[in-house]
Amino acid sequence: LGIDVISHVLLRAAQNKKLENLVSGHPLTRGLVSRYVAGVTCEEAILVARQLKGEGINVSLDLLGEQVDDLAESAAATDHYIDTVHAIAEQAPEATVSVKLSQLGIAVDPQVCAKNLNRLLEAAEEVGVVVEVDMEHSSVGRPTLETFREALPRYPHTRVAIQAAMRRTPEDLESFTNTKPRLRLVKGAYDEPLTRALRDRKEITAQYQHLTGWILAHCPDPAFGTHDDACIEHVKKAAVAAGLGKDDFEFQMLYGVRRDVQRQLVRDGYRVRLYVPFGTQWYPYLMRRMAERPANLLFFLRSLVGR
Ligand code: FDA
Repeated sequence: LGIDVISHVLLRAAQNKKLENLVSGHPLTRGLVSRYVAGVTCEEAILVARQLKGEGINVSLDLLGEQVDDLAESAAATDHYIDTVHAIAEQAPEATVSVKLSQLGIAVDPQVCAKNLNRLLEAAEEVGVVVEVDMEHSSVGRPTLETFREALPRYPHTRVAIQAAMRRTPEDLESFTNTKPRLRLVKGAYDEPLTRALRDRKEITAQYQHLTGWILAHCPDPAFGTHDDACIEHVKKAAVAAGLGKDDFEFQMLYGVRRDVQRQLVRDGYRVRLYVPFGTQWYPYLMRRMAERPANLLFFLRSLVGR
């Protein structure tokens, strides 16, 4: 089976509730989960954040959880995020939080989601914590971007993720020419139809590199979320060409992925921020990580067979 086929199957599996129930309760998944997830509680995540800070690495904490089905759940998730923001302000200054708007109810009621986001942004601003909005599947991509756009004038420090793989991204970026928001460029982690997204890995990498120049030229304090050596090297060179210093942008990577590269970037004087997830709802997150590198899944399966 080709890697792309395996990735596709894993991304489909990420949305399968039955499989989620089966795998989530399984004790043998614990080792794999702990590689990518900092813990169940906010306290555990803060501990990881403080350890990383000691190594010169900042973090963005992500309270795991996706699509909520009703407004009560979205309000509860918002409260939980506000608690996280307060914990960060007290114990891990310089950390940010990353949030998925599907957790705040975007698929249930976009207006309520916007209110939840504003509640979170206000609480975060009061204590000086930056919020980063993740970009999800294209089924909620447009409302996510519009909700972010509406919040931007009042909360200009907020950052949003932009997916290089999406065909509409260059147009979205053009629409930000005047507002110049803070962005995080990523390749895109979701199973998208060809009509909406590039699928070929080389094409996505080329597009990522192409968009890097635009973002460096137009956006303050941009973040480049990638573990790809080719993209990392491209960002470094494009920043020099744009006359920017190592402090003018940051590299972002996922907790548990390419730790050697993370440390080397810090040694070379670059700013590095790790996306650190915590919580119990790790299944879809973990499946997307498996899809990015199916070899991880093989390691895991081998460890099961070897027991
Ligand atoms: P690529 O997938 O080509 O990987 C390059 C190399 O990195 C691989 O060869 C492998 O060595 C290593 N690698 C990559 N993934 C790995 C893994 N899971 N385990 C082990 N090694 C791995 N997506 C999205 O749609 N919305 C979002 O909001 C975000 N947010 C986000 C934040 C941050 C900080 C990061 C780093 C990434 C995201 N992503 C995301 C995910 C992103 O879209 C993409 O799926 C992954 O970063 C993988 O793409 P790379 O650029 O790393 O390249």
